[in-house]
Amino acid sequence: MKYNALKGIQDILPPDVYIWQSIESTARSIFFKYGFREIKLPIIESTDIFTRGIGEATDIVEKEMYTFPDKADRSITLRPEGTAPAVRCYVENGLHNLPSPQKFFYTGPMFRYERPQKGRFRQFYQIGVEAFGVAQPTLDVELILMLRDFLEGIGLRELNFEVNSIGDEKCRPDYKAALMNFFGQNLDEFCPDCRRRYTTNPLRILDCKVERCIELRQGAPAVTDYLCGECREHFEGLIAGLRALGVRYTLNPNLVRGLDYYTRTTFEVTSEHLGAQKAVAAGGRYDKLIKEFGGPPTPAIGFAIGMERIVALLKEIAPAVEPEPKVFIATLGKEAEIEGFKIAGQVRAAGFWAEPNYGGASLKSQLRKADRLGAEFAFIIGENELKAGKIQWKGLKTGEQGEVEIRNITSLLTDNVKPSNP
Ligand code: HAM
Repeated sequence: MKYNALKGIQDILPPDVYIWQSIESTARSIFFKYGFREIKLPIIESTDIFTRGIGEATDIVEKEMYTFPDKADRSITLRPEGTAPAVRCYVENGLHNLPSPQKFFYTGPMFRYERPQKGRFRQFYQIGVEAFGVAQPTLDVELILMLRDFLEGIGLRELNFEVNSIGDEKCRPDYKAALMNFFGQNLDEFCPDCRRRYTTNPLRILDCKVERCIELRQGAPAVTDYLCGECREHFEGLIAGLRALGVRYTLNPNLVRGLDYYTRTTFEVTSEHLGAQKAVAAGGRYDKLIKEFGGPPTPAIGFAIGMERIVALLKEIAPAVEPEPKVFIATLGKEAEIEGFKIAGQVRAAGFWAEPNYGGASLKSQLRKADRLGAEFAFIIGENELKAGKIQWKGLKTGEQGEVEIRNITSLLTDNVKPSNP
């Protein structure tokens, strides 16, 4: 019997895992400086968190959720995203009672039953960020700045920052009406999905990828022409802030996003190197969601970064390089083997990755193995030397060699080999 991972779900192996770890550690260190603290959110939630949070008429809720009954017949869903769970957590734990703003990030797998393709998986990982309690656009600017710092910090520069405002419950109805008026003129020519969206959420027609729909929407009214005074002021504040801080952006009036909770600011970071699935990170404001979840009215904004997509971009720039063992412990004879494990312990305690000989092999084949592993240094432990409290060492990349007293091996290593960091 041959077992395979499920369709659209992949294993992440070394050396790629090292790229993942370095991305996560850059995120942690940059987000920390912006005052974001990590939260650990559950991977499963009650289904209504998502139907209510993301919206009944979205692709995610209509078609893409992994939903099933648990043993007590409750409807459970594998989280397709982290914002709705973060809001549930914020309200449930009374985090609104703490001083504003409260700023969090989370990492982990998300699940969407989408058609797998390059850059699109059914289990994928996000680093998500959510900030609660500030209505001013200065927070929007700060979040986008932090995202740029992070992307530059991991070495990604040639990215497009697209921004838009989709208004709020005051101005969006007028805009929806204008769109329906425009699309209604030749509705029959749109794809079946768009014809359905016409009644459920006409804004979504703006980001349909079908070529004919793209043609048909040329000349559609732009949302930014329909913003009410307050939304306009917010949007202008965002743009002024981005300019002042030197964040390069483009305005994309079609950036409506596929989740219903957004109000005002939406943004997406895209790369031309990724093909159809080009968004590496995306987010926006969701000023109404906390109240919707039973909390006090609280403005909020966040974004999520797609790990697989940024890993793909980083691998294009440079292949993954994983750390290699620093020290190989070669041994000759049973007694030396045991002693080798003790010496390996000493080497590890000094901060180096030590690989022992697990037994048997000749010295020649042990040193070949050390080379294949990429080790920099070998200790060679023979029974005679042991009696004298000394062992031989060899610089595998330099060819240098010598003898060292066992009690001095830490200083020999610190003088000659850089410590191993995962
Ligand atoms: P989203 O646009 O659905 O937003 O996802 C954010 C990012 O996750 C995307 O830009 C993409 O990089 C990645 N992503 C989404 N679906 C897949 C997939 N099937 N395979 C691989 N990568 C994928 C959200 O999830 C919102 N919760 C973001 C947010 C946070 N808004 C406010 N706060």
